[in-house]
Amino acid sequence: MSDEPDSRFRIYQHDSRELKSRLEAEFEDVDGLVDTIITSPPYADLIDYGDHDEQVGQQNYESFLDDIRSIYKQCYEIAADDCTLWIITDTYKTNGRVVRLPFDIADELENLQNHKTCLEPDCSGHLQRNRGNGTLVCQTCGEVHDPLPESWRMEDNIIWDKLRTRPWHQKGRLRNVYEHITMYSKTDEFTYNKDAIRITDPDEFKKWWVNYPERYSPKGIVPSNVWEFPIPKQGQWGPKVSYHPSPFPEGLVRRIVHLASDPGDVVFDPFAGIGTTLAIAEALGRKPLGFELNSEYIDYYEDHVRPTALREVGSVQSTLQDEQALLQDRIYTLRIHKYAYELYKELITTDRNSLRDGQIEFIQATSDPTQFDQDADPAASLVFVCESAEDFNDVSMDAAMEGMLSEDKGSGDYYGVDFDPMFSTVNEYLDTLRTDPPTLLDEEVYLYQGKHNWAESNMEIGDWIECVASNDWLQYWSKTRPPLVSNLNIQVENPMEDRGQKQAGHQAGLNSFD
Ligand SMILES: C[S@@+](CC[C@H](N)C(=O)[O-])C[C@H]1O[C@@H](n2cnc3c(N)ncnc32)[C@H](O)[C@@H]1O
Repeated sequence: MSDEPDSRFRIYQHDSRELKSRLEAEFEDVDGLVDTIITSPPYADLIDYGDHDEQVGQQNYESFLDDIRSIYKQCYEIAADDCTLWIITDTYKTNGRVVRLPFDIADELENLQNHKTCLEPDCSGHLQRNRGNGTLVCQTCGEVHDPLPESWRMEDNIIWDKLRTRPWHQKGRLRNVYEHITMYSKTDEFTYNKDAIRITDPDEFKKWWVNYPERYSPKGIVPSNVWEFPIPKQGQWGPKVSYHPSPFPEGLVRRIVHLASDPGDVVFDPFAGIGTTLAIAEALGRKPLGFELNSEYIDYYEDHVRPTALREVGSVQSTLQDEQALLQDRIYTLRIHKYAYELYKELITTDRNSLRDGQIEFIQATSDPTQFDQDADPAASLVFVCESAEDFNDVSMDAAMEGMLSEDKGSGDYYGVDFDPMFSTVNEYLDTLRTDPPTLLDEEVYLYQGKHNWAESNMEIGDWIECVASNDWLQYWSKTRPPLVSNLNIQVENPMEDRGQKQAGHQAGLNSFD
């Protein structure tokens, strides 16, 4: 097989009203040819994209909707069963009336065959849509028709916050900063890779994410249905000459491509403009296919948008993958350290046979971080070290773990970590470290002074053994919590805390990170 890209996957300078026949001239079989469609048609006659009689929207609004239905019907016919259609449009006000373009298009697409009269033999009654369930009801014989099995089905209507916009506002119409991204499916089998679009930048999390890492997926958060992407600045892709008036932002297309397609899939745009959809899709390993009337936009795509995307989108992608791996490490490390301290609190509660505050001298946590990207829950060992066995002989670790459950503080299951907690005396602990140290503790250890998110210092394992043997660990007690020693290293600011106060409460570490 040749590695050469298939040159049929490109922008065609044709009228998209003829898209099916044009594609049939290129491809032997167009059934199921496209896997994802990301597109924005002209908003009726709001913008003139060049002197082309075939430009949709230049006729009256009803003819425009007929064209739109015809184009998306042809899209439906060439779409694979798992295909989704993403249409970016907006409402606008003309002659004092708000035109509901996103929803007028939805009405057309959900009756793609344009049934207007009753389908029963001998009845030609007028069909009226039941707006509650989308069926078409004959006003003469009462027969109910469901157009959805042979139509695009609206799945979602996402708000695209453009962040920047023109400063216009008028009485009854505020400054317009958003547009609609309306998503449609062909069948229930549509591709929907939620994990591929998770947000991994903690700056976009709630302020309490460090305190509640168990509530955040290690893979990041699935975006809501309000998407913030600034409209592209002039010159983002190349010189401003011949620039298109309404190109897509790169991040918006990237998100849809990841969510709705897999590598190798065909991504199609029947109103390609300067080809943002196609360029990003190709840079992400998909096959680009599109139609556009204006040759200047096509040239701009070939000369600037495509080469820039092929050069730059890959590096954005690897940064995102690095961010994802970093978040995974952080969330599991925070969960393990937090659980250690929560279980400590449970062990010293006074409402059952328990330890007294201070009897646990320090806690050790170990976990193999190479497990963090596996599907199974990672394992973590916790050792609660006391002076003598008498301190903990009558204390049930199981009851403490149960207490975490019953008081809704989160079990190991809830934390997504398979915890193995135990008690040890200082002497047993030292013996083990000297004779048979856990492999995870054979190099550096990190010391936490009551904060699960901030390693105050690090040291060689030999120094830690000395520290324990000489009772120097005592200096790492915070006001209320014993020191935690761990093979896992983390230093993330807690947005809920004033860092200045936090610093003031700390004692000097042996080998501070600061
Ligand atoms: C809203 S713009 C699309 C912008 C595009 N998403 C981008 O990122 O550049 C709509 C485009 O549809 C094109 N167009 C209008 N009527 C068309 C038709 N009948 N066939 C193909 N393209 C058409 C216009 O020239 C215009 O570039």
